[in-house]
Amino acid sequence: MRIGMVGLGRMGMNMALRLVQDGHVVTAFDRSSERTKKAEGLGIKGAYTLEALASALPSPKAVWLMVPAGEAVDSTIAVLKKGLAPGDIIIDGGNSFYKDSLRRHKDLAAIGIHFIDAGVSGGIWGLTEGYCIMAGGEAAVCGLIGPIFKSLAQEGGYLRCGGPGSGHFVKMAHNGIEYGLMEAYAEGFELMKASGYGEELDLKNIARLWMRGSVVRSWLLELLETALSRDPGLSAISGFVEDSGEGRWTVKEALDLSVSLPVITEALFRRFRSRQDDSFAEKVLAALRKEFGGHSVKSEGE
Ligand SMILES: NC(=O)c1ccc[n+]([C@@H]2O[C@H](COP(=O)([O-])OP(=O)(O)OC[C@H]3O[C@@H](n4cnc5c(N)ncnc54)[C@H](OP(=O)(O)O)[C@@H]3O)[C@@H](O)[C@H]2O)c1
Repeated sequence: MRIGMVGLGRMGMNMALRLVQDGHVVTAFDRSSERTKKAEGLGIKGAYTLEALASALPSPKAVWLMVPAGEAVDSTIAVLKKGLAPGDIIIDGGNSFYKDSLRRHKDLAAIGIHFIDAGVSGGIWGLTEGYCIMAGGEAAVCGLIGPIFKSLAQEGGYLRCGGPGSGHFVKMAHNGIEYGLMEAYAEGFELMKASGYGEELDLKNIARLWMRGSVVRSWLLELLETALSRDPGLSAISGFVEDSGEGRWTVKEALDLSVSLPVITEALFRRFRSRQDDSFAEKVLAALRKEFGGHSVKSEGE
């Protein structure tokens, strides 16, 4: 099948490559022409403007977006749609907020362009292992992109979850779960590191052990084993944890639906806390203990 790919970052480049390796013809655009050039060296056809990308595709044209959520998706669609016609298809494979996807679906439907929201999981490993794809949109439109989903996904790793927005909604829940799982591993390993067994507990061996028949085995644990093998104390990594928005959306959605999500919410707040060396809240705690009970406090730098 012929398809366009917009965004040749960590995800888009590998996805375009996986498609080419499976016999598809991919025309790709990145706003940095060096990346487009790099793609051409990998058997991907390069387009140096969005207009050129659109005109290079046969009708019905299908274009996969793999750019950051938010403004980047809207501005790309705004330019791209000028080169598209009724019946053409845009697939947003990034981590967009599902309500944005609902809006884009509606706006594009008004001019006859189909829109599919496709949550993708698999990270940089997807190139070799295949991706997990959670799609939302009309069944018939998802069907038209079937050969692309099949090539990108692992065996059984594709599902049309439901109507418009549902793919990104399911991806949001998926990423919320990821926050909670990661936090639980982090806490368990912190406890073992703090234990009186000290160096005797080899954390990478424990991660590896838990991959053999334990109920907590998972791919995240495999990745942790890799990271600990490379750097047993993770001494080269600072404990500053970013978030890319999906956890916030999950928690906001839980508030809107009055659903209790204590683990995911706490995991999100732990990430915020990780970005402060010293928090004002903790100064308040220490100050109050001093005021009411005369308890000692440590001064700055002590
Ligand atoms: N990384 C992951 O593990 C992962 C997994 C699943 C889903 N996702 C989602 O997939 C999407 C892409 O992620 P990524 O990891 O590939 O990101 P990335 O490596 O940062 O690449 C982002 C791509 O989007 C382009 N871009 C950035 N801002 C843009 C804008 N305003 N207009 C047009 N293009 C723009 C970048 O162009 P330049 O080359 O000019 O910077 C780059 O090609 C995101 O929505 C992300 O949340 C990522």
